[in-house]
Amino acid sequence: MVAKIIDGHAVARQVREECRERVAALQARGIQPGLAVIIVGDNPASQVYVANKVKACTEVGLKSTVHRFAADTPDREVEALIRSLNADPEVHGILVQLPLPPQFNVRRVLETISQEKDVDGFHLYNVGGLVLGNTIFPPCTPYGVQKMLEYEDIPVEGQNVVVVGASNIVGKPMALMLMQKDATVCICHAKTRDLAQLTILADILVVAAGRPNLILPQMVKTGAVVIDVGINRLPDGRLVGDVDFEGVRQKASYITPVPGGVGPMTVTMLVHNTVQSAERLVPAEQLAEA
Ligand code: GUN
Repeated sequence: MVAKIIDGHAVARQVREECRERVAALQARGIQPGLAVIIVGDNPASQVYVANKVKACTEVGLKSTVHRFAADTPDREVEALIRSLNADPEVHGILVQLPLPPQFNVRRVLETISQEKDVDGFHLYNVGGLVLGNTIFPPCTPYGVQKMLEYEDIPVEGQNVVVVGASNIVGKPMALMLMQKDATVCICHAKTRDLAQLTILADILVVAAGRPNLILPQMVKTGAVVIDVGINRLPDGRLVGDVDFEGVRQKASYITPVPGGVGPMTVTMLVHNTVQSAERLVPAEQLAEA
């Protein structure tokens, strides 16, 4: 068996096209959806991520505004900006790029963002909503994985799903979202004993551990769907995921490449969540007029 490669760019294109149409419909009603991005310090990876987010917004007609702070800015100053953005009717989504410098109380900053504008889905309220199955904004990376599975018509209900990696941004929300779709979910992490014994059971294997070549062909069931969320830069400059792509590809039914797999979906789902937010925040009387 040689796996079908799931093309993240193709899925992203389809979602963005749908977003573009929804933005145009909002603009026709006099609403310009807007995203505010806050970045603190000069982490080079964060600069690249923010530039990609701005580009994706422009592509679908969203207005984006980037607020930059020096690394030594007191956290209260950033929180004051967030409170003013919460009250700004022209801002429909607020995102604080992570990581923040060490003096920041990250949870307090994230919880300053209005739940109604938390398009990253990192606020405690939205995380709690995931547990109950009614979050306002699912976090972008696992939401992107879910869209990729839907795009390929890969059923989730009743399937054995193994998630490798238990981060707050990917592993934990991914597991909750798939559980909500009636999958049987197992979460593995850095301290899991004999990882292979669990991964071999997976009908769908989602890997977000940040370790190149963690998943080898002998750890994967024949015909499994393998989603690689890892992004690792090797010493020779190559960008790879957490899965031995060439080896596992010979055994899986579907596989996502790195780059060009889950990566393009993260920023796309941010755009999607911002459009969703703008539609939610349109005053009811304006909807009635439309
Ligand atoms: N840093 C790494 N990934 C993310 C993300 O998805 N959102 C934010 N805000 N920061 C990040």
